[in-house]
Amino acid sequence: MYTIKINFENPDDLHHHHDEEDDHHEEHEHNFEVATDEQGKEYAIIKGQADHSILESIILSGLHLHHNCGAVCACTTCHIYVHKGEDYIEEISDREEDYVDRAINPRLESRLGCQCILLEGSGDIEITIPDQSGIIGHEH
Ligand code: FES
Repeated sequence: MYTIKINFENPDDLHHHHDEEDDHHEEHEHNFEVATDEQGKEYAIIKGQADHSILESIILSGLHLHHNCGAVCACTTCHIYVHKGEDYIEEISDREEDYVDRAINPRLESRLGCQCILLEGSGDIEITIPDQSGIIGHEH
């Protein structure tokens, strides 16, 4: 089992789900913890298991990350930065690299969340979710 720390470029993305919640509806799954770093920035901690992608781990936790193509490596909306623990994740493919180049603000540590399959093992992973507010797409 992996522990995944998630930083948010846009703090609103952390609260995305809750804002849409309606008191009369059933509660969404809520499998994440929120903590605050020394700079006063909130981050989330979730669990991830082998064979799941980071995108899946995020969705299962109840947090939000766009995935407009349905997680088949055909868009850039699940773009994340992986700062720590890249050795626990399947290596980037040429196809993924092509899409990552078209993402907003690609960096060396850029990956597509849906292609980050967790390998067998356990440890700490740290990622950042880029600002999601500019992404047009379905809200799932
Ligand atoms: S969801 Fe489209 S590439 Fe990941």
